[in-house]
Amino acid sequence: MTTPLNAPTIAKIFRTIAQSRYSTKRFQPSTSIPSYTLQDILRTTLTSPSGFNLQPTNVILVDSQKIKKNLSQNAMLGMGNMYRAVDASTLAVFLSDFEPQKRISKIVELEQLSNSRVPGYMATLSVASSFLLGEGSAATFFKQVATNAMSPLKPMPTIDPVECWSYKNTSLVAQTYVLAATSHGLATCIMEGFDARRVKEILDIPDRYGVPMIIATGYEYVGEGTENELKRSPRLDFEDVFFRNTFGELFKEDHLHEDNTTQSQLNGDDNASENTAQSFKSM
Ligand SMILES: Cc1cc2nc3c(=O)[nH]c(=O)nc-3n(C[C@H](O)[C@H](O)[C@H](O)COP(=O)(O)O)c2cc1C
Repeated sequence: MTTPLNAPTIAKIFRTIAQSRYSTKRFQPSTSIPSYTLQDILRTTLTSPSGFNLQPTNVILVDSQKIKKNLSQNAMLGMGNMYRAVDASTLAVFLSDFEPQKRISKIVELEQLSNSRVPGYMATLSVASSFLLGEGSAATFFKQVATNAMSPLKPMPTIDPVECWSYKNTSLVAQTYVLAATSHGLATCIMEGFDARRVKEILDIPDRYGVPMIIATGYEYVGEGTENELKRSPRLDFEDVFFRNTFGELFKEDHLHEDNTTQSQLNGDDNASENTAQSFKSM
């Protein structure tokens, strides 16, 4: 990869973005996101990875006050989500396709046009994807039985219901979206507290899609009483989350420095990073 920035600087920028994200509880009403900002966020969101590159996600950007109000009053659960739905500039409604096999022909066409794959990739794509993405719970069940039986003999794919597969892919798109929005200084709150049946009806979403989350996006409310609010939520300890080699084996942070990586190498040179952060802001 060629880049004018050195690796520690890029890492520092990314770390700053990731660490500055938190779920915003209250949004500034009557605001809108500049169209070039939204375009940049959405273009970055498009870079998200997906299984077989099938891209089983769609996103509806709701900025109509009338529709946000309708969602708030008729589909959101809990007062917090109701307020956020109406006050946020835009609601990004994430959809997961439960019939992703219907996308295969378009993706095959895209892949052929881009000509970016190693020889043989296209052949594995149609076999592998049709194996993993059959329709219905009966198909999933039979594939699970078959692959469980074969697994002691040779590695077989783990068959999850298509809903899991599709939600898994959409979650990665959602995270890219959130971090891209954060990089523009926008506030976000991922929400699963809503009645998806009602959301589907209000937004005219076809049956084949699930709605795993709605991401309120906009500007944080700043006003009396919000200055001292605790924004950062707690996280488990490093050792509670990361294991080394096998499940449960401690992965201590000191293990990471066995290769002599120093903290300053990890953080990058501060002056260089500040300069880059400035130019990054104007990008
Ligand atoms: C899948 C998912 C669903 C969530 N649903 C809601 C929600 O409906 N309402 C809400 O206020 N926060 C919701 N959150 C935000 C979480 O409460 C929040 O991410 C968590 O407490 C960690 O805090 P942080 O995002 O500020 O780091 C959701 C987060 C995720 C990832």
